[in-house]
Amino acid sequence: MRQIGNMVRFSYTRQKEPLGLGHAVLEARDMVGNEPFAVLLGDVIMTGERPATRQLIDVFESTGEGAIAVVPVEREQVSLYGIVATDPPIERDGRQIYRIRDLVEKPKPEEAPSTLAVVGRYVLPGEIFDYLERTEPGRGGEIQLTDALRQLAKERGLWAVICEGKSYDAGDKLGFLQATVEIGMENPEFGEAFRAWLRSLKV
Ligand code: G1P
Repeated sequence: MRQIGNMVRFSYTRQKEPLGLGHAVLEARDMVGNEPFAVLLGDVIMTGERPATRQLIDVFESTGEGAIAVVPVEREQVSLYGIVATDPPIERDGRQIYRIRDLVEKPKPEEAPSTLAVVGRYVLPGEIFDYLERTEPGRGGEIQLTDALRQLAKERGLWAVICEGKSYDAGDKLGFLQATVEIGMENPEFGEAFRAWLRSLKV
């Protein structure tokens, strides 16, 4: 923790009322200004060789437009996520990227335009704040980041990147336990002992 504290300077703001993810991001406007910035939802844990946010920064730098991480999910699960509709992929710097045509927050399975789900990593231009200012409450009566992204995609451009590695929804109790066990098993310090202990359990 000390090492991280030496690498970066932390500032924080608090969302005083739970008015939605879009509203929470808008709270950071004064700190971020008009710069591109990353949003990382802390309840999504992603593993993999190359960090998802790094991949999104690369796409932002190459296209000059925002980029968000997506993963394929089962159709029954689409109502837990923002879902994207895209053009066929194009290749850019050795990776496939998809131009986003539309986004829908937590659609019903029969209404989802695809099964590509937004997983909580976004690299966005400062302009998104203007879109958020104009975003009316949407699904659940909340100001949704997805709705502001929908407008940004239509008017400016936005890319989806299927990120490598695995993602865990640690905001869900079962997902939290799965992340703890799977990531714990790979831990260089105590993974081996942890795996031995797991094997000893009578499940
Ligand atoms: C939020 C977003 C949703 C996204 C999800 C990823 O929803 O609104 O678009 O797919 O995070 O975890 P939440 O899980 O906060 O309800």
